Amino acid sequence: MPHRTDRVKLSPRDHLFALTGAGVSAESGLPTFRAANGLWRGYRVEEVATPEAFAADPALVWQFYSERRLRHQTVRPNPAHFALAELERGLGDRFFLCTQNVDSLHEQGGSQRVVHMHGHIRQSRCSSRRCSSRPFDDSNSYRTREEIPFCNACGALIRPHICWFGEVPFEMDLILHQLAGATVLLTVGTSGVVEPAASFVKMARRNGAKTIYVGPEEPSNSAFFDEVLSGKAGEVLPGLVRASGD
Ligand code: OAD
Repeated sequence: MPHRTDRVKLSPRDHLFALTGAGVSAESGLPTFRAANGLWRGYRVEEVATPEAFAADPALVWQFYSERRLRHQTVRPNPAHFALAELERGLGDRFFLCTQNVDSLHEQGGSQRVVHMHGHIRQSRCSSRRCSSRPFDDSNSYRTREEIPFCNACGALIRPHICWFGEVPFEMDLILHQLAGATVLLTVGTSGVVEPAASFVKMARRNGAKTIYVGPEEPSNSAFFDEVLSGKAGEVLPGLVRASGD
């Protein structure tokens, strides 16, 4: 770890951009993607979370997301989610939270200014790029090809409302606008290998922002962080948030 500190002080002029990854939900019981236990039936996420995988075997892809949907129904926010919500209550619109996670744990923990750049596990949409129908709430499980519904508007198969590998994440204009105005980037629980989120730290640094990482392991992009706070998000963040307001 290049640096270590126990305190991060925020000034009244600071704009904080928080970026979270799977690690922030790990203590709630949701497995991360790249841990030793991160494989699903022997597949890496890069093998099932793609448009090509869906075209080849939509039932397999839906089985992957259906299992995740069921799991998400049982989890609750942990102290890391609550700490970020507390930070937001203090900073108001000087706080912005961008998550790569598709769960709703930030919202359940009280966060309001949350953007899900990789979509939502509890939403589905039409799989046709030409269809103008909107994503919709959907917590159903689909296990066979026959169970997968078709779009009412165009007849194509329904797919999870998730950003897959090779696709552009959601809300990038808003995210990049917020990142450009940030004076502090707080990144939590992400391995720093999936773009474009992995490059946010470089962008923030170029703009002069202070950059902080929280997680038990050094991320791939750790060289770009001013501070790397080693530990679990649920243990580090509550103290960090208290210290930031001192
Ligand atoms: P990864 O699984 O790649 O990384 C999770 C990170 O969380 C690792 O660096 C762990 O060290 C860290 N971690 C584990 N437990 C933690 C804890 N208790 N507190 C803090 N950190 C902890 O997950 P992401 O980086 O989020 O995209 O993955 C990025 C994207 O890759 C995901 O959004 C997903 C995946 O493909 C899509 O599905 C589109």
